[in-house]
Amino acid sequence: MQFYSYFINKMIYSIRDLENRINDAIKKIPLDLSPQALYDPIRYVLSSDGKRLRPILTLMATNLFSDDVSLSLSPAVGIEIFHNFTLLHDDLMDRADMRRGNPTVHQLWGNNAAILSGDAMLIQAYTYIADVPLHLLPDVLSLFSKTAMEVCQGQQYDMDFEKRRDVTEAEYMEMIRLKTAVLIACSLKIGAMLGKASSLDSDLLYQFGIHIGMAFQLKDDLLDVYGDTKTFGKNIGGDIVCNKKTFLLIKALENSNASQRKELDKWLTAKDVDSTTKINAVKNIYDELNLKAISENLIEKYYLSALDCFSNLPVASARKNELLVLVDNLMQRHK
Ligand code: IPE
Ligand code: IPE
Ligand code: MG
Ligand code: MG
Ligand code: MG
Repeated sequence: MQFYSYFINKMIYSIRDLENRINDAIKKIPLDLSPQALYDPIRYVLSSDGKRLRPILTLMATNLFSDDVSLSLSPAVGIEIFHNFTLLHDDLMDRADMRRGNPTVHQLWGNNAAILSGDAMLIQAYTYIADVPLHLLPDVLSLFSKTAMEVCQGQQYDMDFEKRRDVTEAEYMEMIRLKTAVLIACSLKIGAMLGKASSLDSDLLYQFGIHIGMAFQLKDDLLDVYGDTKTFGKNIGGDIVCNKKTFLLIKALENSNASQRKELDKWLTAKDVDSTTKINAVKNIYDELNLKAISENLIEKYYLSALDCFSNLPVASARKNELLVLVDNLMQRHK
């Protein structure tokens, strides 16, 4: 009996085990290459303190169906490289100067470095993602390419929306589905595919990932206003400075009274303003409108839909626990 439970435990990996596996594999990526100016930013970003959420999800999805998580290690690393590439370009587009508690790549090496090292990472990501059994290669590549294109679409909507004041909640939801949720969903689905899940089960995990991803971006937007720079690792208020149409701002525009609306319009059109003053003024309106709680309720709603989806997955609950803990941690996160 004891042997049996020991054996069972051996097959189910903890979040920490999987994170270590990912970090060990990332350390093995050959980056000691020339020219140094191309590879230094890549080494810098890949060795910084990311949560490794997406590749952990890939390995966990594999572990739902298989004892051998090494089956998806290479694509998991590829997905993390891809995610880090999007961050290099995103920080440039968002004029962000801090990430994971460190100066961003474009701050340290300049815009061209962020562009080109980012491009190199995208190429590198593909080589890791393509390292899968030949019979799965077409499906894995087509899902990943579709996802990567959707991330670009989402990022473009995100930038387009900075210039608009009539963005609807539905448009926002579609934008975050594209820029964030689909990659999280894809990470899970690729893991499931490599664990030899049925297409029904891998599609179910994709749907679960969409719900998690929506909650994840809503929480990111919330932390951008209500988080603590030290733990969040990014400058607080960056979204307010850029007039990002977050859920908070869209709701503020929708729920504001005449004087709040006038004040919001003033900050949304103001030029050369002090960022701290603008952040405090807009945050003040969010507080008056109780938007933190409204946003938390919506996050909870997506979380519950995710759990509902996951409960339909016909896998032994012992195998599901670790993923449930991870998702719960995500909902409580401060970084
Ligand atoms: C940041 O992603 C970009 C978003 C989609 C919000 P993460 O919050 O997963 O960033 P790291 O990798 O842990 O730094
Ligand atoms: C990022 O959204 C989505 C992608 C990187 C594709 P954000 O712009 O909110 O991410 P952070 O807050 O900079 O990490
Ligand atoms: Mg950003
Ligand atoms: Mg962005
Ligand atoms: Mg953000």
